[in-house]
Amino acid sequence: MSYAIIGLGKIGTAIAQAFAHQGIEVIVASRRPVDALAAQIGPSLIPRSVEDAVKADVVILAVPFATHRDVAQAAQSWQGKLVIDATNALGVPPEELDGLPSSAFIARSLPGAQVVKAFNHLPAATLAQGPKAPQGGRRVIFVSSDDDAASASVATLVDRLGFAPVQLGKLNEGGLLVQARGNTWGRLIFQDLVRFD
Ligand SMILES: NC(=O)c1ccc[n+]([C@@H]2O[C@H](COP(=O)([O-])OP(=O)(O)OC[C@H]3O[C@@H](n4cnc5c(N)ncnc54)[C@H](OP(=O)(O)O)[C@@H]3O)[C@@H](O)[C@H]2O)c1
Repeated sequence: MSYAIIGLGKIGTAIAQAFAHQGIEVIVASRRPVDALAAQIGPSLIPRSVEDAVKADVVILAVPFATHRDVAQAAQSWQGKLVIDATNALGVPPEELDGLPSSAFIARSLPGAQVVKAFNHLPAATLAQGPKAPQGGRRVIFVSSDDDAASASVATLVDRLGFAPVQLGKLNEGGLLVQARGNTWGRLIFQDLVRFD
């Protein structure tokens, strides 16, 4: 299974650090070259162009919401890919999303891909602190998707990265707790929760 993170800004870097800490190979790409930043984060990061990065089996979207269409156009096909949507559509009027959850709206640009929302609910600076909470236990990452198998697969990745996955179900059900709608945040956004195993 190959992984890629598109966007190596604040949230992309925090996710990349999680991969680096576990020594898991991950391709990273941005509009500008990211070679120096990738080398700084860790040796398991592989800098590539966006066009090469979207060939990975699992593509993590860590770009501003509005630019998801640019990323969508970079792949010849999204068929069979797993896309992890870490974006938030704060400030986007719900009518511009045709009333859909933001990840479901993004999914329309990625025909054939399974889209899972994850890694979007914590501030990047909190996520960058890693999976171990100061009070003990593992920091929670929420996972939601309209595809149960894809959700389970991302939960496994979250666990492998050391975090505690909590699956919320479908995007327009539990997923609404971790997305922005217009100028309103879902109630679980910014909740830095911990699971004691
Ligand atoms: N910051 C947070 O605390 C946080 C937390 C959770 C979720 N999020 C969400 O994560 C997303 C990214 O936020 P951010 O704060 O990480 O933003 P950011 O720091 O501005 O980083 C955005 C990254 O996306 C890249 N990018 C922009 N357009 C691109 C394109 N067309 N193709 C490839 N790469 C592109 C930028 O590359 P260049 O620099 O090369 O232009 C940059 O690396 C947003 O949707 C945000 O809502 C943010």
